Amino acid sequence: MAEMLSVKGIDVYYGSIHAIKNISFHVDEGEIVTLIGANGAGKTTTMHAISGLLKLENGEIDYCGNVISKMEAHKIIRLGLAQVPEGRRVFSGLTVQQNLQMGAYTRKDGKEAIQNDFDMVFDLLPRLKERRAQAAGTLSGGEQQMLAIGRALMCKPNMLLLDEPSMGLSPLLVKEIFKIIRDVNRNGVTVLLVEQNAKMALEIANRAYVLETGTIKMEGDAGELANNIEVRKAYLGC
Ligand SMILES: Nc1ncnc2c1ncn2[C@@H]1O[C@H](COP(=O)(O)OP(=O)(O)OP(=O)(O)O)[C@@H](O)[C@H]1O
Ligand SMILES: [Mg+2]
Repeated sequence: MAEMLSVKGIDVYYGSIHAIKNISFHVDEGEIVTLIGANGAGKTTTMHAISGLLKLENGEIDYCGNVISKMEAHKIIRLGLAQVPEGRRVFSGLTVQQNLQMGAYTRKDGKEAIQNDFDMVFDLLPRLKERRAQAAGTLSGGEQQMLAIGRALMCKPNMLLLDEPSMGLSPLLVKEIFKIIRDVNRNGVTVLLVEQNAKMALEIANRAYVLETGTIKMEGDAGELANNIEVRKAYLGC
């Protein structure tokens, strides 16, 4: 499979805090890759470095043959790399429909293509269709997470970066969100998934990387890591 995203020896600092320490990993076309790790491990920092929100001190990030590590965030989105940020930041005063429209604002491929993607998003996330005229701020937490995913899909991404989509959701909704991620991937979108919920993330991912205090401690096939004793003790509680 072709390599789509390549993170090569990156360092990220917040002032004097060395948050990401020389990490490298890659995501191939069609894969779901997960980055698991505890609070403060550096997962969100890594996502922000990829999406152009944070500057690198060292290293390089490539996406589909482009060096994106010095590119502005809005240009990276135009290359087809969309992010669903941590904490599902939707525009609470806007309706569901308007939030989805915001996702498509950088597109220049015409009304018809955008309408097709509205249909695709409503097929994938029927609950959003029912609530299209509702203000996003009045949606439940799970519905807001669906909207955040739907909005990112309206950018027509080739790859989706998801930062802790299961955070704060009930077990039933967590299952639903992970099923949606699998469906999105089956529709042809490559996924990089950051999660504290290692159990669920390892179930749907092809490969995984374990991040600990800014470094990658382990990597491999998701199924194998789920059976690894160290991973089980530290992240699966068994
Ligand atoms: N804006 C900031 N200024 C200073 N330090 C920061 C900033 N943002 C994050 N950090 C620090 O960088 C480290 C990595 O944080 P990050 O948010 O990437 O962790 P995370 O793995 O996403 O954690 P969580 O699971 O809690 O979301 C932490 O030690 C954090 O305190
Ligand atoms: Mg985080």
